[in-house]
Amino acid sequence: MNIQTVPSSPFDDQKPGTSGLRKKVSVFQAPHYLENFVQSIFDIIGAVPGSTLVLGGDGRYYNREAIQVILKMAAANGFGKVLVGRDGILSTPAASCVIRKYGTFGGIILSASHNPGGSDGDFGIKYNTANGGPAPEKITEAVFARSRALESYRIVEAPDVALDRIGATALGDMAVEVIDPVADYAELMESLFDFDAIRAMIRGGFRLRFDAMHAVTGPYGGEILEKRLGAPAGTVINGEPLPDFGKGHPDPNLTYAHELVEIMNGADAPDFGAASDGDGDRNMILGRRFFVTPSDSLAVIAANATLAPGYAAGLAGVARSMPTSAAADRVAAKLGIPCYETPTGWKFFGNLMDAEKVTLCGEESFGTGSSHVREKDGLWAVLFWLNILAKKSLSVEEIVYRHWAEYGRNVYSRHDYEGLPSDAAAGVMAHVESQFPALPGQRFGGYQVKFCDDFSYTDPIDGSVSTGQGLRIGFEDGSRIVFRLSGTGTEGATLRLYLEAFEPDPAKHHADAQQALAGLIGIAHDLSQLKPRTGREQPTVIT
Ligand code: G1P
Ligand code: ZN
Repeated sequence: MNIQTVPSSPFDDQKPGTSGLRKKVSVFQAPHYLENFVQSIFDIIGAVPGSTLVLGGDGRYYNREAIQVILKMAAANGFGKVLVGRDGILSTPAASCVIRKYGTFGGIILSASHNPGGSDGDFGIKYNTANGGPAPEKITEAVFARSRALESYRIVEAPDVALDRIGATALGDMAVEVIDPVADYAELMESLFDFDAIRAMIRGGFRLRFDAMHAVTGPYGGEILEKRLGAPAGTVINGEPLPDFGKGHPDPNLTYAHELVEIMNGADAPDFGAASDGDGDRNMILGRRFFVTPSDSLAVIAANATLAPGYAAGLAGVARSMPTSAAADRVAAKLGIPCYETPTGWKFFGNLMDAEKVTLCGEESFGTGSSHVREKDGLWAVLFWLNILAKKSLSVEEIVYRHWAEYGRNVYSRHDYEGLPSDAAAGVMAHVESQFPALPGQRFGGYQVKFCDDFSYTDPIDGSVSTGQGLRIGFEDGSRIVFRLSGTGTEGATLRLYLEAFEPDPAKHHADAQQALAGLIGIAHDLSQLKPRTGREQPTVIT
């Protein structure tokens, strides 16, 4: 095996964000950039020689090239075997599933999730540990520190490995095993949900659409929804994965999944609509002319979990990220199970799931999942909803209204201000925080401030502390305003404003969320001076 040690100089910007290292494709294409980061990962994780690694990505531009580089570096760094998805493809939840199923040392996932792809789009890379989940901060920080000192990397000199056929080949002393990207994941889904009941519902005339947004879930949706569950061909739309996602923005929300939204609002709308993102971990759930907020989706799944065979024994607990609404907390209270509030990002759920403290978890950002893997899981959420619909024989809308009637409605919205100059965004945050000492007890219209803080979290399992996770202003009636800066963007800063108001009265549950939240939105703008400070009159995206 011809191992080269290639001299290189450190980069100072390889700090992983909310979910791995994300940069423009052109940044990753710079000489040694990808290689340095991969070598930093290998140096830190300390895999024993002969270990197995999982490798795959969402198929975006530069996926193929990066896979070949990483395979050659894995061989040079002493791995014994790499399980790689055919054509370098694995959705993020499927990668997590494969790591766990085959007990590998860890895995590398290539994705920038919902960020646009193509030669001028984004690329990303992250490391997942043996539990199948994103590496915790102590690893990502050590990788960053290593990347700032790295002076060379190791790579074998060899021709590219053919990845289009299932089976094993040798790369130096390492085996490269090309696996079906869908099979293990589909088998896991079949073990969790009542496929017979869903099949019968579809046979009985239930209609659905799944928008894969030209991203990784096309083949997964095709195999599971159309082939195994018998939905007619055409149920999966935009099902062909493309390196630039068909020039779309593969984020399943009301703005970017507009094709699906139009179908679901149309005259002959199907009963159920869903979409997933670039790497398959996000989901959006729609009924006929009805949007289910991700926070409500988590709560509805929690309340009905035992209808799915994989969850028939009940839930150990639930967890939600801090900005996610407290709808799930209400379900947990009724079920008599714990509900944990964690910082934004899936990596904070891993410890709770490993310690069997929680079964379900979710984020307001279209992420829902459970301990079946250690990533959020888009298609899993879709199947959970189909399972619930099949068992309850109600429409999506009826299920949600009945849920609110029982638990009350946590009216919720998120306003994103994308691409702001970093100093303007930081100025808004500083301005809000500067008022904290005087806010408690103050009244704004009908709202009285109960508390305000910069959210920090002490992990109940390992005691690690994460600070600076978002500015919270809580009101006496349980309503909330949260300001937070995104940790996943690659250009400028994105400021997120999260708004939540609790409405116990079923007579008011039909209200439009933006109208119901208008009072809180006004308070948020008064307090933050967001408009004058950023020059933005409107959010870029409202969900
Ligand atoms: C965003 C979401 C967050 C999610 C992350 C990765 O992070 O808000 O909930 O875990 O993407 O999908 P942010 O850009 O807010 O840091
Ligand atoms: Zn994603």
